[in-house]
This record gives sequence, C-alpha cells and structure tokens, in this order.
Amino acid sequence: MTEIAFLLNGTPVRASAADPARTLLDWLREDRGLKGTKEGCNEGDCGACTVMVTDASGVRALNACILLLPQLHGRAVRTVEGIAGPGGALHPVQQAMVDHHGSQCGFCTPGFVASMAVGHLNGRHDHDDVLAGNLCRCTGYAPIIRAAEAAEAAPVPEWMRDSFDVEGPAPYAPASSDALAAWCLEHPEGTLIAGATDVGLWVTKELRPLGPVALLHAARDLQRIEPVPGGLRIGAGVTIAALREAMEGPHPAFAELLRRFASEQIRAAATIGGNIANGSPIGDAPPALIAMGAVLHLRRGEERREMPLEAFFLDYRKQDRLPGEFVEAVTVPDAAPGLRCYKLSKRFDQDISAVCGCFHLVREGGKITCARIAFGGMAGVPKRAAAVEAALVGREWSLETVEAALPAFATDFAPLSDMRASAGYRLATAQNLLLRYFHDIAGDAVSVLEVRA
Ligand SMILES: Cc1cc2nc3c(=O)[nH]c(=O)nc-3n(C[C@H](O)[C@H](O)[C@H](O)COP(=O)(O)OP(=O)(O)OC[C@H]3O[C@@H](n4cnc5c(N)ncnc54)[C@H](O)[C@@H]3O)c2cc1C
Ligand code: FES
Ligand code: FES
Repeated sequence: MTEIAFLLNGTPVRASAADPARTLLDWLREDRGLKGTKEGCNEGDCGACTVMVTDASGVRALNACILLLPQLHGRAVRTVEGIAGPGGALHPVQQAMVDHHGSQCGFCTPGFVASMAVGHLNGRHDHDDVLAGNLCRCTGYAPIIRAAEAAEAAPVPEWMRDSFDVEGPAPYAPASSDALAAWCLEHPEGTLIAGATDVGLWVTKELRPLGPVALLHAARDLQRIEPVPGGLRIGAGVTIAALREAMEGPHPAFAELLRRFASEQIRAAATIGGNIANGSPIGDAPPALIAMGAVLHLRRGEERREMPLEAFFLDYRKQDRLPGEFVEAVTVPDAAPGLRCYKLSKRFDQDISAVCGCFHLVREGGKITCARIAFGGMAGVPKRAAAVEAALVGREWSLETVEAALPAFATDFAPLSDMRASAGYRLATAQNLLLRYFHDIAGDAVSVLEVRA
C-alpha cells in the first residue's frame, strides 16, 4: 500500500496515499476526528481550513482543503488542536484573541489562529497581508488585527518548533526534473500537480478523476532561482511567495503585483510554472512577465526548447505544449526600469483580476524607443497590445502621445463581459491604465491605497 509519513501536532503519523487526490482536510476530519480545522468554501478562498506546515523551506500557512495528502510526506503539520500547548496552554495568539474579543460565532477562528501563529513564528508584522486569506463574517477585522499586534512581542512557544526527517521517497513525486521528464514521457496524458491551487479545485469542485499523477514538490532543482547572463532563471516549482521575495530587488513593480496574488496561503503553495502552464487568460504573472520580455523554457525528455512567453499562449486554454512536455523555467531580464503592473479586481485582497495591465516602456532623449504592454482579462489569452505599442514607439513621451494611442486599444482587444466586468468596463479601464502609467512615471499620486488632498 502507498503510504506517507509526516508529523501531526508533534506526533509521527502514517497515512494511506492510495488515493493521491485525498485532501488533508478530509483526512483530518474524517479519519482523525480533528474537527477544529473547518470546511468553509473547500476551494482555497476563506481560510477556515488553514493549517501550519513546516519543511526545509520554512513554516507556511496552507489551506488544508486543497492540500493533497501526498504533498505532506516528510513535512510537519500543526492544526489548531496542536497550536495550543501541552495541557491546553494557550498560544499567545489564542490568548490575544480572547483578550481582544477576536471571535464571535467562532467558525473562522481556528483558521485565523493558524495563520496568526505562523505569522507570529515568522516574525511578521504585516498582519493585513498575513490574514488576507482568512474570511470573518461576523467579528470584523479590527479586534483580530489588534490581537495579532498584541501577540507580536510574545516569544514563540517551544512546542511550535517542528522538525521531521523521513526515509524514503515521496510517493507520486519524482525527485528531480530528470525523473519528472522521464515520467512525463511515460505518461504523456498524466496530470502534473505543483501547488494544487488549481488542480485541488478540479478535485473538490469538479470531482474530476485525475488519472496518473506526478507531484512536483520533491523536484527541488525546479525550485531554484539562478542568475544567468543578463537575467534570472526561475524554476517552474518556485512558489509565488518565494518569487515575490526574489523580485523585490530587481522588479519591485512585479513583486508588488504578487502581493495582490490571491492570499498568503495560496501564494505559499502556488507555483510560477502552474500559473503559466494553466493557460488562464486572467493569471497575474504572465502579463508582467510578457511585459518584461520573459523567455519560457519547455522540456520533453532530453529535448528542450524556448520561446518568448507570449508565443506559448495560442488560444483560449490552448498552449504550445506537446504531450509529455512540461514547463521547466522562465527567464526574466536583470532589470526592467519603468515596469509597472496594475491589477483591477473587485476586492484588493484575495481576488482574481478583472483586468491586469503591465507596461514597460523605454525612453531615450524624450522619445519612446521600445514599448512592451501586456494585458490579462482582455482576451482569451494573456496578450500584448501590439497596436497600442506601435502607436507609441518613435513618438515623444507626452500626454498627447498617450491620448492619441488610446483608440488603438479597440484594435488590440475585443474583451468579453462576464461576472468580473463588462466588455465596456474592460476596454475603458485598459485605456485608463495607460493614462495611469503616464502619471505614475511622472511621479503623480496613483496608488489606490493612498488618498492625497
Ligand atoms: C483562492 C484562489 C485564489 C487565486 N487567486 C489568484 C490570483 O490572484 N492570481 C492568479 O494568477 N491566480 C490565482 N489563482 C489561481 C492559481 O493559484 C494559480 O494559477 C497558481 O499559480 C497555479 O499554480 P499551482 O502550482 O498551484 O498549479 P497546479 O494547480 O498544481 O497546476 C495548474 C495547472 O498547471 C499544470 N502544471 C503545473 N506545473 C506545471 C509544469 N511545471 N509544467 C507543465 N504543467 C504544469 C497542472 O497540470 C495544471 O494543469 C487562485 C486560486 C485560488 C484557489
Ligand atoms: S475551506 Fe475555505 S479555504 Fe479551505
Ligand atoms: S467569528 Fe464568525 S465568521 Fe468570524
């Protein structure tokens, strides 16, 4: 029988992974009777199922509802039952929730406590970001944030320091990109699972059979970010959280966009490879990467090929990827001065883009010499605004030039109306984002989080 081993609330446990699509949440509640971890949405949106997961890369808050059991092999998991200490001693964040009246109906509370305990352990003080993936419908966030602030100075309880070593390979998880390449050749129609933030929903919402699966988390060589001449090569298995950190220096606008990518829990699981390979027209990383001039690296067996990222997206959900081929990496340039990324969604946090516009213009002697503009949410694929770019290049960098380029958006895009936005809204806001870019570069106030008199 296929088994996995991990540490659960400080105790080594084994679990059957005969069904690789079994979620941690179902296992905790159904097999272990640990019902403190709640099921709210079952799709990564509400944070009621948040647990703490520790491995060699650190301590993360993850959503148990879309975490598949085989992903846990060799890791340590703490549920809300294990965040309280021996004899029921309260963790400082639990005590602070009591002191600051951070809970009313209590349904969201275990998830909040798990996220807060991870934030506390990692020394985080950006509580709004840490808790953006936890939804509370009745208490209101002010007492919860006050509780998180109050617990900041308390030492991390000894019982929270988990470490776990386990012998033997993780089931379903090739241990390197070479092993993955061989698996993909043998199973050209198999399902690759990286962070499972998309695939998890195929399981919980679509009840879709996955067929043969390969999990990517054990292929550590896909998780590297390496300098290459003129740029940085980002392995497909790099999480959005790790990418955000790595981009803060070279590409701050991209890093800031990634702060708006889903939530802490999703960013800690989701990978850049998954965000590209899923071919979504509303994925957040592709427009930014295309605007930067990123190059995609694909691998099939020992054969490798590369292409400008925009060439990968052929049509709605249709990518230039052969059976047995996988995304190995994406390369971004060292620098892209003038890059700006704007995400429009109904909520600031934890929401999918209605429109995401990324602009990278190069100017010399007052003239625009190069323009790369890419949008998500405006077509069936992440797409460059070729006509807008042509209307800008060679012209003077002025408001007149920008305004004269606006009609070209209608040549580039015929967006759809859907639940996120109407076609008219999308076209108008895309044009407005170019105006915003002009004012942003000029140093005017454009932040949606700032109000200036
Ligand atoms: C609550 C929630 C909020 C979200 N918010 C956002 C958001 O704000 N912005 C955004 O862009 N996305 C968002 N997403 C979507 C999702 O998180 C991202 O698309 C994520 O990057 C997917 O990565 P993953 O590693 O989890 O992919 P997985 O779910 O593991 O895989 C996704 C797809 O890619 C394939 N795949 C994965 N890795 C590879 C590879 N190396 N080579 C070939 N194929 C591969 C899989 O087979 C599958 O088809 C959200 C999802 C959820 C559940
Ligand atoms: S149950 Fe809502 S995020 Fe898991
Ligand atoms: S306390 Fe009721 S949902 Fe948060």
